[in-house]
Amino acid sequence: MNDSHSNKQNTIEQVKSSALETTQRLSNQVLISGKLTNALSHQSFDVIHPGDLSVIGSAPMCTEADVNAAVESAETAFHKWKKVPARDRGRMLQKAADYVEKNSVLLEQVLALDTGNAIRTQARPETASSIDLLRMFGGLAGELKGETVPSGNSQVLQYTTRDPIGVIAGIIPWNAPLFLFVAKIAPAIAAGNTVVIKTAEQAPLCVLLMAEMINTELPAGVLNIISGFGEQCGKPLVQHPAIRKVTFTGSLEVGQAISGYVAPKLCPVTLELGGKNPSIVMADADLELAVPGIIDGMRYTRQGQACTAGSRVFIHESIYDQVIDGVVKKLAEIKLGNPLDEQTDMGAIISAEQFKRTLDYMEIAKKTPDARILFGGNCPTDAYLSRGYYYPPTLLDGLSLESRLCQEEIFGPIATVLPFSKFDEMIDAANNTPYGLAANLWTRDLSRALEYIDRIEAGFVQVNQCVAPRSNVSYGGLKMSGLGKEYALDSMLNHFTCSKTVLINPGTPNQNL
Ligand code: NAI
Ligand code: MG
Repeated sequence: MNDSHSNKQNTIEQVKSSALETTQRLSNQVLISGKLTNALSHQSFDVIHPGDLSVIGSAPMCTEADVNAAVESAETAFHKWKKVPARDRGRMLQKAADYVEKNSVLLEQVLALDTGNAIRTQARPETASSIDLLRMFGGLAGELKGETVPSGNSQVLQYTTRDPIGVIAGIIPWNAPLFLFVAKIAPAIAAGNTVVIKTAEQAPLCVLLMAEMINTELPAGVLNIISGFGEQCGKPLVQHPAIRKVTFTGSLEVGQAISGYVAPKLCPVTLELGGKNPSIVMADADLELAVPGIIDGMRYTRQGQACTAGSRVFIHESIYDQVIDGVVKKLAEIKLGNPLDEQTDMGAIISAEQFKRTLDYMEIAKKTPDARILFGGNCPTDAYLSRGYYYPPTLLDGLSLESRLCQEEIFGPIATVLPFSKFDEMIDAANNTPYGLAANLWTRDLSRALEYIDRIEAGFVQVNQCVAPRSNVSYGGLKMSGLGKEYALDSMLNHFTCSKTVLINPGTPNQNL
């Protein structure tokens, strides 16, 4: 081992051991009534770093008793929080954003350890965009306004109010845990609600750390965090009678189950679910944009673990080989490695379960007679990488549109390529899944682009680029990809407020005055 290599290893180990002090400190804790405390449940589960399968801490396996304590804390806080003027609430969130920003280095390290996402390409930008989203909703708090409705009679006043709902339950996944956490809590809290979040069992510690930081600027009980599993903790949380609104990101199946759990109490639900998104390259596309766009769109550097991943790549047959060549060359440059290493582009898959899911889909591909592996497709053999859940960026073709790989959300680093010749057939094929989340198209023909925008069944539609969802840009899916929008003003107004319509007739003026 040469000196620079061993210096680098030392730095990575130092980063890990200092972040581990924090993950140990946060172990077995919940955030209730403004304080980190032991859970009532005495059971806990290990939190594993997917990069080397080391145990970085543990988290409580909360059950109904902890749910009740967290909801009670939020209910108590709600009575005061709703009376705090909206812009003051917003200012507190903005101060919280400043505080998180000051401590962001630790947060991105814990995020990388918790998720296995590479620090340079994922954990750092996710931390920055989460802070940005928190700050943005703080600034939007002044937009919580009702409307006046002209009555035609100067003596009758008609208006609507914009009020907080109460205690909100949020259930989040692990793939972008900080951003999705902020997307739930920031609009809810700015609007005067209080919140109980159940973290994902795969990545609970980074969210608890960010919540601890935000909590320093909020009254006790406004933000509460519990951890645990779906049936045991998530289900009693959403079913709790005091929960009047649920916001969820995760799988279609769990989104459907949650909708069912809360249907008897007519509780509204915002759902951000899966996708099987098309990335389409037309014959006239600018390949300087399209080739890197396919790779960015597939979110390979997040191991493909994104609901917007452009995992079905439609390429016009006239440029098929050229595009594949370009993409394969760039995939070969992606460096798989230790998530804490600044040189790493792509880290590890989150868990044994998701790793197996990727391997199982590859087994199906390998058994399909005409399927070709254009890149990747096998576990790395390197000694370090064999220690964790690493899998290379993988590109396949020769699979039919009906194949499970072209229909189901893999949520791993596998994309399938499908050639096309006719625009109409391609659009039908692109729409031929139950999902409708994101879509990307590359063309120089504006008229075709407009036709695609009209016909594609997706809620987040891009042309000649493929950027990740971001602050201030409303985002959400059609069809089975979800219900409702997030990340922008409309999500706060439409999902986290309720309204009264008021009609006032003051009566006849006193004629003696
Ligand atoms: P999941 O949907 O099971 O879990 C997401 C969250 O829901 C976690 O916090 C989990 O504890 C909770 N949960 C699970 N069952 C629940 C229940 N019955 N009641 C209440 N809460 C419950 O997702 P999982 O198992 O982590 O991943 C499986 C697949 O889901 C992935 O392969 C991917 O296809 C999809 N997924 C989509 C995401 C997205 O961003 N839209 C995020 C994560 C997963
Ligand atoms: Mg699950």
